[in-house]
Amino acid sequence: MTAFTPAMTAFTPAPDRFLWGAATAAHQVEGGNVNTGHWELEYAPGTTVPEPSGDACDSYHRFPEDIGLLAEAGLNAYRFSVEWARIEPEEGVVSRAQLDHYRRMIDTCRDRGIDPVVTLHHFTFPRWWEHDGGWYSDRSTDRFRRFTEICTSVLDDVDRVITINEPNMMVNQTEARIDTENGVNFPGPSPYVARAIAAAHHASTEVLREFGGVRSGWSVANQVFQAVPGWEAQRDEWQYWREDFFLEQARGDDFIGVQSYLRTIIGPTDDADGFGPQPWPEGTERTLTGWEYYPEALGHALRHTRDVTGGVPMMVTENGIATADDRRRIQYTTGALSAMAEAMADGCDVRGYLHWSLLDNYEWGSFHPTFGLIAVDRDTFARTPKPSLAWLGGLAQRNVIPRA
Ligand code: FCB
Repeated sequence: MTAFTPAMTAFTPAPDRFLWGAATAAHQVEGGNVNTGHWELEYAPGTTVPEPSGDACDSYHRFPEDIGLLAEAGLNAYRFSVEWARIEPEEGVVSRAQLDHYRRMIDTCRDRGIDPVVTLHHFTFPRWWEHDGGWYSDRSTDRFRRFTEICTSVLDDVDRVITINEPNMMVNQTEARIDTENGVNFPGPSPYVARAIAAAHHASTEVLREFGGVRSGWSVANQVFQAVPGWEAQRDEWQYWREDFFLEQARGDDFIGVQSYLRTIIGPTDDADGFGPQPWPEGTERTLTGWEYYPEALGHALRHTRDVTGGVPMMVTENGIATADDRRRIQYTTGALSAMAEAMADGCDVRGYLHWSLLDNYEWGSFHPTFGLIAVDRDTFARTPKPSLAWLGGLAQRNVIPRA
């Protein structure tokens, strides 16, 4: 396999023991994740979810191959999530067999010289949780604390644990109402739910501290809110419950995961609030998710996170692009890494870069937006590494960050 190398001028050495890797999430790759509320929604009569997850990438069975490809490319870290709905299929019922499954994943990583970065919660919940109040249940903190305790039984020799992925996206999803005429309506984040999620994170962190030996934090969707000139105050108001509240919660953590894809520009709108996200200007390059092509976002995300958390060590736990053109993926990632190098030169303490995603996977409703460094055949599950995998692995091997 030959790697496509875009024009670039220089490389900066990355710090020693920098983590270079890729990320996935259980529901998006495992397949057959039938006990989650998401699966229930996907297969509900009249569902508005365009495509169900089905067998996804069958990584539940093929994880040794996935970890092997990542290791052979030269990467040194794999971020994946454990699935609560498998581990605690009914409230209080613990599946030893499923815990063993995740322990085998951790062992496979270690056998291949890969650092496992384990996410405890990545968007999906067991059906029983969804049916019994979700974040509105007054037992939500205790439930997540107990789940964390259960997970510690397989976390020996795991160095980094992410408690909750993108709590600031989940707070929107919790409030989303599916309207058959207008699609999904996000009325805005609920401070009540935001506080409930934060309480669960702090309880989980306490358990992990007591367990010892792991560094923990959560990973926040950094949306790079920029203001139309003169709309800075409204931008700040808009971003508080959508991002900054969640960054503030990380102030006492061992690290924070930074997840960056694009920016959102806040300015005047015609709706009741009078301000909000602006439409993309005519001619903006859009990716397969419809997002603006804006690799510089990562640099802004790191600086903003540093400023709000007061300097908690950061790790890029997601960054990538949905595209069918792998050269564009390499160009995007070069731009993002270059912005990361500038932020690091500017004092940002960044400990690793985990690309989203290792595999073309189930993007919460559709397989169409392909984020993977590896293509997956939808019928046979055959894995085909893309040139971007070897390219990223090459940077890892040399431990250098490209400067565009
Ligand atoms: C993030 C999610 C991840 C994936 C990427 C594209 O918001 O954490 O699961 O969907 O976006």
